[in-house]
Amino acid sequence: MALVTGAGQGVGRQTVTDLVRRGIAGRVVVNDYVADRAETVAEELRDLGAEAIAAPFDVTDGPAVQEAVARATAEFGGIDILVNNAGNSGTAGHAQDQTAFWESAPSDWLPWIGVNFTGVLHCTHAVVGGMVERRYGRIVTVISEAGRVGEPNYVVYSGAKAGAAGFTRAIGGAAGRYGVTANCVSLGATRTPATAQIDEMDDKTTRRILSGYAVKRFGESADASAAICFFAGEDAGWITKQTLPVNGGYSNAL
Ligand SMILES: NC(=O)c1ccc[n+]([C@@H]2O[C@H](COP(=O)([O-])OP(=O)(O)OC[C@H]3O[C@@H](n4cnc5c(N)ncnc54)[C@H](O)[C@@H]3O)[C@@H](O)[C@H]2O)c1
Repeated sequence: MALVTGAGQGVGRQTVTDLVRRGIAGRVVVNDYVADRAETVAEELRDLGAEAIAAPFDVTDGPAVQEAVARATAEFGGIDILVNNAGNSGTAGHAQDQTAFWESAPSDWLPWIGVNFTGVLHCTHAVVGGMVERRYGRIVTVISEAGRVGEPNYVVYSGAKAGAAGFTRAIGGAAGRYGVTANCVSLGATRTPATAQIDEMDDKTTRRILSGYAVKRFGESADASAAICFFAGEDAGWITKQTLPVNGGYSNAL
């Protein structure tokens, strides 16, 4: 069974759908803290023949995560694929930093740290013990090129995503001997509801942004999902602690 967080739209929605369509998971838990989104996607997946349940919890709420995972496990059996996808700045979507870091207050940092870092800890904590027991698991964490390169307009987000990547590598090291892999997919600018402003940009702005990319288009959710599904599949069992940039050549992984 697979749990995909933030699967009510964008990359998460595409990923949970592709996990089903590609036969990687027949049972899926569709998480989103917007309950309607989670239910709509679960319904779509049931129409595709999957066993799908909606689980509308906030990944930053540890007890809620534990409870939802316990409920899903009782209904469906253990979770053997976790995609830590929920991210950005929670309810604020993907808004840029409003002030320079040196003028920010610590309370400004919390939305970024909560969903992009602490949420990854909570969800992994809730499922990895079962994976270790069953000697099988796939954990995929969606990070950002901001976390690899350091993005001046998303300072705390950059740090939180880098933290999530470091944590994912470490848990891959700790759980590898039990058949559990943990990898990251690092996204460049990708067209999703969170980045709807991409579609409203004038040509000059679009060209300026894409000048940093070798492939001259923005990413699509399907680009992200293809890499996530690869790491989530059975065949990727000897790949762990890695970060794969899916970024149109914006930066390199050597
Ligand atoms: N779109 C991009 O350009 C881009 C670039 C780099 C990284 N990313 C990362 O990719 C992932 C998916 O991004 P997206 O663009 O599809 O985002 P999105 O905002 O379109 O979708 C994210 C979904 O997650 C849900 N969500 C947010 N906070 C949550 C929480 N605390 N608990 C549960 N659900 C929550 C939202 O309700 C939303 O439905 C995120 O981790 C994001 O940081 C995206």
